[in-house]
Amino acid sequence: MKHIQKGVLYALFCPGLFFISPVHAGDISVKITKKYLNIPVSHQTDRIPMKLSEKDKKIDSFNIRLAPEQADYWVFYDVSSLKGKTVKISIPGENNGLKAIYQDDVIAGSDSLYKETYRPQFHFSSRRGWNNDPNGMIYYDGEYHLFYQHNPYEREWENMHWGHAVSKDLIHWEELGDALRPDSIGSIFSGSCVIDYENTAGFNQGKTPAMVAIYTADNPQKQVQCIAYSLDKGRTWTKYKGNPVIDSNAKWKTKDTRDPKVFWYKPGKEWVMVLNERDGHSIYTSTDLKEWNYQSHITGFWECPELFELPVNGDPENTRWVMYGASGTYMIGTFDGKKFTPENGKFYYNTGAMYAAQTFTNMPASDNRRIQIGWERITHPGMPFKGMMSVPTVLSLKATPNGIRLFSVPVQELEKLQDEKLNISTNLTARKASELLQPFNKEGSMRIRLTMKLSHATDAGLNLYGQSLLHYDMNSNRVNGVFYSPADCTSMEITADILIDRTSVEVFIDNGAYSYSMERKPHNDNNEGFHFWGNNIEIKNLKLYKMQSIWK
Ligand code: FRU
Repeated sequence: MKHIQKGVLYALFCPGLFFISPVHAGDISVKITKKYLNIPVSHQTDRIPMKLSEKDKKIDSFNIRLAPEQADYWVFYDVSSLKGKTVKISIPGENNGLKAIYQDDVIAGSDSLYKETYRPQFHFSSRRGWNNDPNGMIYYDGEYHLFYQHNPYEREWENMHWGHAVSKDLIHWEELGDALRPDSIGSIFSGSCVIDYENTAGFNQGKTPAMVAIYTADNPQKQVQCIAYSLDKGRTWTKYKGNPVIDSNAKWKTKDTRDPKVFWYKPGKEWVMVLNERDGHSIYTSTDLKEWNYQSHITGFWECPELFELPVNGDPENTRWVMYGASGTYMIGTFDGKKFTPENGKFYYNTGAMYAAQTFTNMPASDNRRIQIGWERITHPGMPFKGMMSVPTVLSLKATPNGIRLFSVPVQELEKLQDEKLNISTNLTARKASELLQPFNKEGSMRIRLTMKLSHATDAGLNLYGQSLLHYDMNSNRVNGVFYSPADCTSMEITADILIDRTSVEVFIDNGAYSYSMERKPHNDNNEGFHFWGNNIEIKNLKLYKMQSIWK
């Protein structure tokens, strides 16, 4: 909690350093000389609206739990573009927290940033505040962009912005400032990004194609679809003056119309949008990203649509379209540019903590992988942030004896982070395998790959401090309680690729035929650590890698 004292001490002993002069209760004026305003937050207090203005012109406003006394943690507001200006910070009523706000070139807590006790070490999480869905996932000019639902001012959902991080390798992320902020139409809900190579919307400048974000603006009355564009690789954005581009609440008699996912449909030479409306996903088309025409609707999905084409077993001559919603349940079918037609039932490839996953568009020409990242609904006790992203995974369609199914495996790039600590390919008893894993019980981040052979046992598994990482119940066809039918129904074996970070566990079964994720329970000294169980089981191919941190 070093940073908390720091703020208070600075405010007490060096107030001049911050050029902050109180005006009257509820107002404070700050001559901006540094990059950030650091603001104390306490969950013991209610949210209040905070407004920033310059010469009576509003700059921004948001809701915040301004700590009157002891802060739980500090959040920050980037004022670098306001240097030299005098900014008024106003709140209704009095609150001592106003005086504790200070400016600095670093964010409060920067000395422990990414080294916090429960900071995910090989997963993306935001520096401060709350995150949910990944948004606008796109590759462009050497960078993967991960925008995401972000509340910069508290570790709970509120004030939805699009946060922004970039990566050159899908693994190491650099968090940039927030890309899109709430405005008079609403707060910025989920959506997607495209690169408008053909300048269909007319936003391009010379040879620079616009990156266009298509998102939902949410206000208490409505959810409408809007667009914004960037000519500097997502760093700064201009919202389209003609927003909203779709307002369909009246048609659907609901406020639930959101999360546009847009892509260029080559055969039709037009943009296609999949939009969640009330009870399913609608298809809209457009030639300019501004005028949208409703085409069709399919029921059975809720929030965060995706629709993309994949080869079956890697054969480009045999493709199918995959449609899914936020929960990860999907349909496989055909798509003619206007209508998606499912071929069979609705399946799942993933369950548990992951939600609202999206896939990258505009992948480099040399890379035809369909790469997905999802929101992991994971909390990190006592941290100034909440939520995290899954590891990136590659999605593929495979023909199985049960029909065509969606598979998901972690991207190869993760292997760069691995330090091999165990690699055993002889058969081990449960006791021996447990013993070999003991030194790693408290390891912060690691990856375990194994094959478990049942034979005498109807169910078997692997626990960590009593938490079930893997429980294969062959008798009732379940993995960790969820129905799972292996491709070879007579198989007595199951393989698992288990990714464990400080607060999360992701498990990929049988090369991605099924996957799930969960919070990692804290370790408990009175209990056993890694523990394989099951009558006479054998553990084959036991591998353990320590995972390096992605944070410098
Ligand atoms: C899914 C979701 C979206 C919405 C966003 C708001 O988690 O509810 O439907 O756009 O979160 O943060």
